[in-house]
Amino acid sequence: MKIYSGSANQKLAELIAKELHVPLYLPEKFIFPDREERIRVLERVVDEEIVLIQPLTPPVNEHIIEASFLVDALKRSGAKTVFLITPYLGYQRQDHIFRDGEAVSLDVVIKILEVVGVDKILMFELHSIKIPELFNIPVVHLSALPIFAKEINRLGFNDGNSVLISPDMGGIRRIKQLSEILNDMPYVSIEKDRDLATGGIEAKEIKGAQNIQLAGKRGIIVDDMISGGGTMVKASGLLKKNGIGDIYIFATHAIFSQNAPILLQESIAEKVFITDTVFVNKNKHFPKLEVLSVAPLIAEEIKKQFDF
Ligand code: R5P
Repeated sequence: MKIYSGSANQKLAELIAKELHVPLYLPEKFIFPDREERIRVLERVVDEEIVLIQPLTPPVNEHIIEASFLVDALKRSGAKTVFLITPYLGYQRQDHIFRDGEAVSLDVVIKILEVVGVDKILMFELHSIKIPELFNIPVVHLSALPIFAKEINRLGFNDGNSVLISPDMGGIRRIKQLSEILNDMPYVSIEKDRDLATGGIEAKEIKGAQNIQLAGKRGIIVDDMISGGGTMVKASGLLKKNGIGDIYIFATHAIFSQNAPILLQESIAEKVFITDTVFVNKNKHFPKLEVLSVAPLIAEEIKKQFDF
């Protein structure tokens, strides 16, 4: 087995290889003046099982193309199988048609990956549990919730004084799972509206709070991803209006588009915990940010899959 990394998150790939005590291989990459990319695998990979690490993070289209070129290069060079580790799956929020005339963008991405020859895929914290059904290859779906639970316990937040919050109704399944891991920590969910045309967000009301005392409690907001940061900011505002105490944010995928880091730093949240499924450049780090690594979980899964 050989581990390769594309350019999307080399830092995570290095951590995974380190956990496994194996070398990490990088392809030769050349960008032409017109931005076309040439990819070349330098090692002999005939009959090898390959693990390729390439999350489909922004710039999503470039990273999808690079992943596809890499899989093609590996297969043409004789690789027996390619197991694609893509901790963040780009286009996952476009898994169905919202309005007439739209493409099912995620379906197109899946077709591309399957046609170029991906044999198996690993993803983290998918937006919908239905996504694995769209694939025709085996899927490994991991979650960062055990990592979050460990951190919440380590911080001493499982002290009967915390409430878990999903910032939208779509995250209710996730929050229930985390509550179970944390010995039935109470949870509520926020009803959120997003205008599909403008992207504007409204945090409308807190659902499920009838029997739960929010005032003065520590609020732990948990979501699959932070993109522009609007969801977290609006959710925090609504919670504050309802008397919640300190607010902590946990999100698996830190997409951090637009001015999300500034919004989050200036928000009323005390801390923002993310994982390293998405590479966050140093210039997007901010004082309230804490990064928890998914590398040990991915390394464990690779060991399981390859029996070593
Ligand atoms: C949406 O349903 C997701 O779970 C996230 O809440 C959303 O993608 C976050 O986006 P933003 O940070 O731009 O509000």
